[in-house]
Amino acid sequence: MDGFMKFIQASPTAFHAVANLAEMLVAAGYQALEERQPWRLQRGGRYYVTRNGSALIAFRLPEGRLDHYQLVASHADSPAFKLKPNPKREAQGYALLNVEKYGGMIMSTWFDRPLSVAGRLAVRTPGGIETKRVYLDRDLALIPNMPIHFNRDVNDGVKLNAQVDMLPVYGAAGADILALAAEAAGVAVEDVAGFDLFLVNRDAPRLWGAQGEYIASPRLDDLECAYASIRALIGAKPSAHGDMACVFDNEEVGSGTRQGADSTLLTDVLTRAARGMDVEDVEAMIAGSFMLSADNAHAVHPNHPEQYDAENRVSMNGGVVVKFNTAQKYTSDGVSQAVFEALCKRAGVPVQRFANRSDIPGGSTLGNIANTHASMPSVDIGLAQLAMHSANESAGVRDLGYMIDAMRTFHETEIEVAGDGDVRISWAD
Ligand code: CO
Repeated sequence: MDGFMKFIQASPTAFHAVANLAEMLVAAGYQALEERQPWRLQRGGRYYVTRNGSALIAFRLPEGRLDHYQLVASHADSPAFKLKPNPKREAQGYALLNVEKYGGMIMSTWFDRPLSVAGRLAVRTPGGIETKRVYLDRDLALIPNMPIHFNRDVNDGVKLNAQVDMLPVYGAAGADILALAAEAAGVAVEDVAGFDLFLVNRDAPRLWGAQGEYIASPRLDDLECAYASIRALIGAKPSAHGDMACVFDNEEVGSGTRQGADSTLLTDVLTRAARGMDVEDVEAMIAGSFMLSADNAHAVHPNHPEQYDAENRVSMNGGVVVKFNTAQKYTSDGVSQAVFEALCKRAGVPVQRFANRSDIPGGSTLGNIANTHASMPSVDIGLAQLAMHSANESAGVRDLGYMIDAMRTFHETEIEVAGDGDVRISWAD
């Protein structure tokens, strides 16, 4: 938990999360690859590649023939507000940030709490443009609520307009957000040629509950699964297949970007890794691979249990959740569920099953989208959390360890997609 809490605090945006995950991989002996360079891969080698600085795929190769991959997919982005290209506004003597919504957050949870700005700058240099990650690592901004005296109906449901109600104050008129960002990045403000900056919640992750059994934190969806996937890959014993962890960007806005799950990123990496290992039949390799699509799940809310299916609801600290959706927003089916639950049993990890009420459509995620590019048997999993897409979400302290154990066992298990619908499972010992 300690390492995870530090990671989440140091990862205000996908850019930072990817940089921190890359650092963990380098410390574990993984080598960086560049998409624009030729890849010289070695048997038994461990590598990672990033795209846009906000998505990452790490993989390790077997010593022998590369038959298939066992991969985990998650995402690094979270709902937030994003600064518009002309980010400055002034009103009533205040400097405001001109922001818009990125993804579907619960907007009211962003009121009256310390916020700051993070992301990246595009910096003009003699040679062209260079990107620089930036985080104004201090309490900088706040979106004040309207007092109840002017808003008597606020407790009967409040309607918020992102264009009007959600602009944060970050000082007295005259403050210059780009100058502050340039200073934090150590560059001259006149060299800032562009930016991708987000408003971020400054709250530190904290444990709560009678036994400290819960964690409240920004960005648990989906940094919990992203962190677990890298920890599991690093910690897993060598296997006879290829192992991979994919952390995509832009899941919260539909994944349809160069660095999202609806891109060529996964197939590009699978294909290049196959080529480097002299795999002749790449399609057979992909068809024989197996995916865990890992994104957090909804724990039953004690005040509104009626919103959840009576037999398919899950709770925090109850173990890894297998997610089902008959409209196929989740990839789980009877076969992939059976495979995943078998390895959880092997790992001693409890499993819970989630499905929505029939009259609630629920959310979406990325495994089904990635599967339209690289198609393979797949199961959707996650950790049960409360208040999804709140500025502060809550999850169970024991569940993170369960997820890491389940993912590690997944990599240490030989999952052979033997035929159309048959899967052979074997363990190294
Ligand atoms: Co998510």
